[in-house]
Amino acid sequence: MAALWKSEFVSTAFFVVSFCLTICAEVVQGQGTPRFPALLVLGDSTLDAGNNNGINTPAKSNFAPYGRDFPGGVPTGRFSNGKLTSDFLASALGIKETIPAYLDPQLTSNDLVTGVTFASAGSGYDNATAESGNVISFDQQISYFRQYQSRLRGIVGEQEASRIISDSLYYIGTGSADFGVSYFNFNPRNLRYNRSLQFTISQYVDYLISLGAGYIQKLYNAGARKMLVGGLSILGCSPSERTYLALAGRPCNDRINQASNEFNRKWEPTLARLQASLPGSTIVYSDIYNIAVQAVQNPSYYGFLEVTRGCCGTGLAEVGQQCRQAARLSCPDADRFIYWDSVHPTQRMYQVIANVVMERDIPTLLN
Ligand SMILES: *[C@@H]1O[C@H](CO)[C@@H](O)[C@H](O)[C@H]1NC(C)=O
Ligand SMILES: *[C@@H]1O[C@H](CO)[C@@H](O)[C@H](O)[C@H]1NC(C)=O
Repeated sequence: MAALWKSEFVSTAFFVVSFCLTICAEVVQGQGTPRFPALLVLGDSTLDAGNNNGINTPAKSNFAPYGRDFPGGVPTGRFSNGKLTSDFLASALGIKETIPAYLDPQLTSNDLVTGVTFASAGSGYDNATAESGNVISFDQQISYFRQYQSRLRGIVGEQEASRIISDSLYYIGTGSADFGVSYFNFNPRNLRYNRSLQFTISQYVDYLISLGAGYIQKLYNAGARKMLVGGLSILGCSPSERTYLALAGRPCNDRINQASNEFNRKWEPTLARLQASLPGSTIVYSDIYNIAVQAVQNPSYYGFLEVTRGCCGTGLAEVGQQCRQAARLSCPDADRFIYWDSVHPTQRMYQVIANVVMERDIPTLLN
C-alpha cells in the first residue's frame, strides 16, 4: 500500500505539486537520498543564523526574547522567534532540520557537508550597507564560501566536494537593508552612506541590480549552479516603516514599497538573462513580495491576527537590543503575528514563505 502510494506520486506531477506542502520531503528524497546534497545560503538578517554573534556590530539577536520558539528556546542569532525560511527549506528538502551559521565555533564536519549560511544581518548588495553596520559584505560572504570549499575538500575529498558544490541548492536573499539602512533610514552619523543624496530611487535600483548580477556571476565562477534568488518583500509595510511614516491608521509606506517593486521588476529579467548566459546554471527568481501581500491582506487565512505591529516589545519600533530591553511587553503567541520585531517576520511567516517556495520554485530547480 505504501509502495503503491509512493509510485503514484512519482507518476503524477500535479498530485505531487498540490500535496507538496505536507509531504514534499518524502517526494524530493526519493530513495532516501536528498536531491540536493546541501543547502548553502548567502544574504542578510532574514537568512543569518548567528554569523554576527562574534562580530563587533550592533546587528545582533543572540539573546532573549529572540529564539524563544526555536528548538530548546535558544537565541541563536536568528532575527526571529524561531526558525528561518532556509531552515524550513532544508527540512522540507530532507537535508536537515536547521542551517547553521558558517562562523559558529561549534560547527562540525557534518554541518559543513550538508550546508551552512554565510548570511549576515545588516548586509546588502551595496558594500556601504555592510560597512555602516560593520557586518559581513556580500563579497566577504563569497570569500567565506571559497574557504568553505577547501574545508569541504579536506573532509570528503576532491571529487565528492566538487559534486556537493555543483549539485547543492544556493539560496540568496539580500537587498532589504540597502533600502532600509542606506537609502530610506540611513544612520545620520554616517552621512556619506545617505544613498538618497547620491541616487534617485531608480538609479539606486539599477546600481543594486548591477552589483547583484556581478555577485551571481561570481558565485557561478566559484562553482554554484542551482540558485534560488529572493526578491524584496513589502519593505514599506514593516512595523518600523509604518511607525516612521507616522500617519493615522499606520498605513504602509508606498514610496518604499514602490522601490521594492521596481527592484523586483528589474531583478527577475536580469536573473533570466544571467541564466541564459551561464551554461549549466538554473537561476530562479523567488517572489517574496506577493506572498507577503497575501498575508497582509488576508491574515486570517494563515492564522494571523496582527499585521501592523511586531510581537517583541511594543511592536512599534523595537529590533535587536531594544527587543531585549522591552522583552516583558512581548506578545504571548507569536504565531498570530506576521512580524516578530519591527523589521523581521515571525517563524510562522517564514514557514508560510517556505511552503510557497517549495511548491512554486523548487520544482524548477529539481529538473
Ligand atoms: C566592495 O568591496 C570589495 C572588497 O571588500 C571590493 O572588492 C569591491 O570592488 C567593492 N565593490 C564596489 C562596487 O565598490
Ligand atoms: C539624506 O538625503 C535626503 C535626500 O537628499 C534628505 O532628504 C535627507 O534630509 C538627508 N538626510 C540627512 C540627515 O542629511
